[in-house]
Amino acid sequence: MGKAGGTAKKAETEHTVTLTDNATGKSVDLPVHAATEGPSVIDIRTLYKETGMFTYDPGFTSTGSCESALTFIDGDEGVLLHRGYSIEELAEQSDFMEVSYLLVFGDLPNKEEKAKFVHDITYHSMVHEQMLNFFRGFRRDAHPMAIMVGVVGALSSFYHDSTDINDERQRMIASYRMIAKMPTIAAMAYKYSVGQPFIYPSNELDYAGNFLRMTFAVPAEDYEVNPILARAMDRILILHADHEQNASTSTVRLAGSSGANPFACIAAGIASLWGPAHGGANEAVLNMLEEIGHKDNIPEYLKRAKDKDDPFRLMGFGHRVYKNYDPRAAVLRESAHEVLEELGVKDTPLLELAMELEKIALEDAYFVEKKLFPNVDFYSGIILQAMGFPKSMFTVLFAVARTVGWISQWKEMIEDPVLKIGRPRQLYTGPERRKYVPLDKR
Ligand code: ACO
Repeated sequence: MGKAGGTAKKAETEHTVTLTDNATGKSVDLPVHAATEGPSVIDIRTLYKETGMFTYDPGFTSTGSCESALTFIDGDEGVLLHRGYSIEELAEQSDFMEVSYLLVFGDLPNKEEKAKFVHDITYHSMVHEQMLNFFRGFRRDAHPMAIMVGVVGALSSFYHDSTDINDERQRMIASYRMIAKMPTIAAMAYKYSVGQPFIYPSNELDYAGNFLRMTFAVPAEDYEVNPILARAMDRILILHADHEQNASTSTVRLAGSSGANPFACIAAGIASLWGPAHGGANEAVLNMLEEIGHKDNIPEYLKRAKDKDDPFRLMGFGHRVYKNYDPRAAVLRESAHEVLEELGVKDTPLLELAMELEKIALEDAYFVEKKLFPNVDFYSGIILQAMGFPKSMFTVLFAVARTVGWISQWKEMIEDPVLKIGRPRQLYTGPERRKYVPLDKR
């Protein structure tokens, strides 16, 4: 197993802020902790004890839920760093296995460390043979994300020997298993849906190439991995590997905070990722582009996106954190061109429509004022569709990539001495206490 550690620095108290209740005149001093980069946080852990009040922040727009040394995002500047390295540099110069090592252990591996990590992940990529029966219980038309939630949750029933979260070695084995088996399970979900036999992993291939082969090969003929497509797939995996405390990651942490086993926690993360406001957006983008159909129809759809009475939103646009171009979307925009060229796709109506839509939206006062830019999902679907993935697999691919982020965040949380069960409070606005009225008197 690789080295543990990394370059984490514990937050330091910078100064205090004073919160005064204007009704009672009572004040409380709250410490402010400095971040390595980005905003400081007000530590409100003593607030309830001191004031008898909770904070109210639906959607957690101003709430930091944990201390983390994994990923930093500057949404205003469009910056994304993993353990301090920029996503552009990682996408350009690194590969998914190296980024995975970086996220899990905190530093880039040296040659030996990388070779050992790749070897260990490779040799965990098969799934228990009994799991094949598990797949067969699903309907053929089941959404692959439904299969993922079920099968990944079921891993905890197959790998009992790595579910003790208090055992460091078991935590590590579970992490390796999850990173290694996710592509195998995802490819199996696809194969099952198209009625083709499952393809076992090949230890000769790298992570992305192996995934492409398990997805697209058939036993009847040889399958040669296209290196350009494998590189594009690897890049997609890098770009989706982690993204700080988003909905699915927070779900993994919350599930894990109760002491649940890591396989169950990742299944919870997959469920959260599925929604169209999160990982499901890449599927929604393609549906939207197909619905728009032609660039002449863009103004009509933009009008609908701006109409508060119309539920239509421009999918792949806007982000809770980025108020600038999502740096991942910029890399994928380039990748989309490369992949389509490699595949010899001369006529690229969807890509052209997407670029035109982006151009028009970025000049539109509504989108400019609200700082709505393309996010990671805007171009990924175009690439994946060109590679041959059906739309229903897009979010599955996101889950494959994000697994390393989820598991790194989960490990970080379990190893944090501050670990406490996640238990938010609420602003209760229901009825006051009232007397039960027997049924015959109502
Ligand atoms: N189209 C039209 N208007 C939008 C869009 C959009 N895509 N996104 C945001 N807005 C508007 C909202 O109506 C709101 O307007 P208002 O202030 O007049 O009420 C304003 O911009 C702010 O939007 P919120 O929904 O409050 O922002 P929030 O941070 O809660 O939501 C989200 C972010 C969910 C990503 C949103 O932008 C959205 O639904 N986008 C489309 C779905 C999508 O692409 N999701 C992928 C996100 S990235 C990821 O998960 C990998």
